[in-house]
Amino acid sequence: MAYETLIVEVENHVGLIRLNRPDALNALNQTLLDELVDALRAMDANDSVGAIVLTGSEKAFAAGADIKDMAQKEFVDVFGDDLFAAQAEAITAIRKPIIAAVAGYALGGGCELAMMCDFIIAADTAKFGQPEINLGVIPGIGGTQRLTRFVGKSKAMEMNLTGRFMDAAEAESCGLVSRVVPADDLLDDVRATAAKIAEKSPLAVKAAKEAVNRAYETTLREGVLFERRLFNALFATRDQAEGMAAFIEKRSPHFKGK
Ligand code: CAA
Repeated sequence: MAYETLIVEVENHVGLIRLNRPDALNALNQTLLDELVDALRAMDANDSVGAIVLTGSEKAFAAGADIKDMAQKEFVDVFGDDLFAAQAEAITAIRKPIIAAVAGYALGGGCELAMMCDFIIAADTAKFGQPEINLGVIPGIGGTQRLTRFVGKSKAMEMNLTGRFMDAAEAESCGLVSRVVPADDLLDDVRATAAKIAEKSPLAVKAAKEAVNRAYETTLREGVLFERRLFNALFATRDQAEGMAAFIEKRSPHFKGK
């Protein structure tokens, strides 16, 4: 399907979604977010996709929500429509892993979108920030909540109160991103990482994603129990038998998602 604001491809069991509003540094508007949800759902339902990469351009992953669209809005508009809420819920409900490949600016809603993904690999050019405070507002899709869980209160508070940007090295040192790579290598690296995930049992991959995400939602005791029950349940799959047999027979496993 052709999109107005996205470029989408599937190759080697990896779905790649590139945000594509170059004139607005990939600012998030209603069309882009609706199309993004549509593309992610299509990949989630496509058995030939094992992992998804979400990226932007060299200059910007996304420079935030579209300020020109929001400027005329009033409380009744944003509260009445619950601006961006449905799309944010839908993005975080995707069951396959989504890796954010971030080069350049990931600001405001762009930083929040990257944090909705399962992990972030950053180019050395990446800059993260929640500059909404400069516009007289605060983040609206997780910037005060997810950033605090990623980097802790002190850094999240400073970023949200001052609007200062964090470079890639700082983002790696405080755990916002899993790795930093040279900008020229970003897409190859992230595609290879996604392809590696796509080789695993899709059932185990979904279980691992659910279990790690549960750590953000619950107590340690409940989270460990949730993990153990998923671990137990995976012994009902043929992929478990195949994975362990392949190890013992010193060969590569062939997972079928059954
Ligand atoms: N919304 C709409 N348009 C944007 C945009 C945004 N968030 N960010 C950049 N653009 C547009 C600019 O208006 C400009 O368009 P024109 O050429 O038509 O003027 C074009 O993209 C290029 O931008 P700049 O000329 O500003 O590029 P720069 O290299 O000088 O600066 C930047 C880059 C530092 C990222 C700067 O564009 C900037 O500060 N952008 C806004 C960042 C921001 O405040 N984001 C938060 C938005 S609010 C939000 O996201 C709420 C939420 O939580 C949901």
